[in-house]
Amino acid sequence: MTRLLPCLLLLSCLAARAEEAPPGLTEYLGRQIAMTMHWKGAEWLMRRVREQEESPTLMRRQLDVKPGMTICDMGCGNGFHTLPLAAAVGEKGKIYAVDVQPEMIEMLRANLERKGVKNVEPINGRFHDPRLPANSCDMILLVDVYHEFSHPVQMLAAMRAALKKDGVLALVEFRAEDDTVPIKPEHKMSKEQIHKEMNANGFKLAREFDGLPWQHLMFFGKDDTWKAP
Ligand SMILES: C[S@@+](CC[C@H](N)C(=O)[O-])C[C@H]1O[C@@H](n2cnc3c(N)ncnc32)[C@H](O)[C@@H]1O
Repeated sequence: MTRLLPCLLLLSCLAARAEEAPPGLTEYLGRQIAMTMHWKGAEWLMRRVREQEESPTLMRRQLDVKPGMTICDMGCGNGFHTLPLAAAVGEKGKIYAVDVQPEMIEMLRANLERKGVKNVEPINGRFHDPRLPANSCDMILLVDVYHEFSHPVQMLAAMRAALKKDGVLALVEFRAEDDTVPIKPEHKMSKEQIHKEMNANGFKLAREFDGLPWQHLMFFGKDDTWKAP
């Protein structure tokens, strides 16, 4: 037993280290990465004026969600988009709702329970790993979240693996090209920057919608010609 104890300690240390995230970035391909929005501000995500400001209903209509689809709401927060998506995919469909902040996941769970929603699987993801099953998603929606990723390369690789062959990323980001959008610069992205980051990680533009008041909505599919560096 005395000889076994150090081995057991070493094994548990190695397991703990494997759980650790690699160091995060503060900048990626010339873009400053934004700080994660704190869960204490979650009420802001459910603000009444959000419909007038961002037209989220119009945005979700562009997603062309069909009953039976499997969709991931990446960086779901307290579930502003998760609940309508769950209704749209219906009982044969499924939503993976991923967030790195356990408090956001708890608020989401409370909202799901209050509304009796059964087809959402909340996942407490890690900063470099959303813990999604491989080849599982028809779509991964990212609303106001990608610019916060401290590990964009690992997250894009993980999302690429989680998407089915013809699956798409639906990326919603505040427009950096537009000074009238009242959001801090590090929480905005230009189309040029989005293309740069997506193309470098094996995604190519499938379609886009330019009709939202403040945001870009761009759909990216897997680029099959891409080779990981
Ligand atoms: C500005 S909030 C947007 C929430 C939600 N998408 C909405 O539109 O209401 C960004 C969320 O992304 C989450 N987030 C940041 N980095 C993440 C990561 N690597 N994986 C999953 N969620 C992440 C944050 O915890 C936060 O809840």
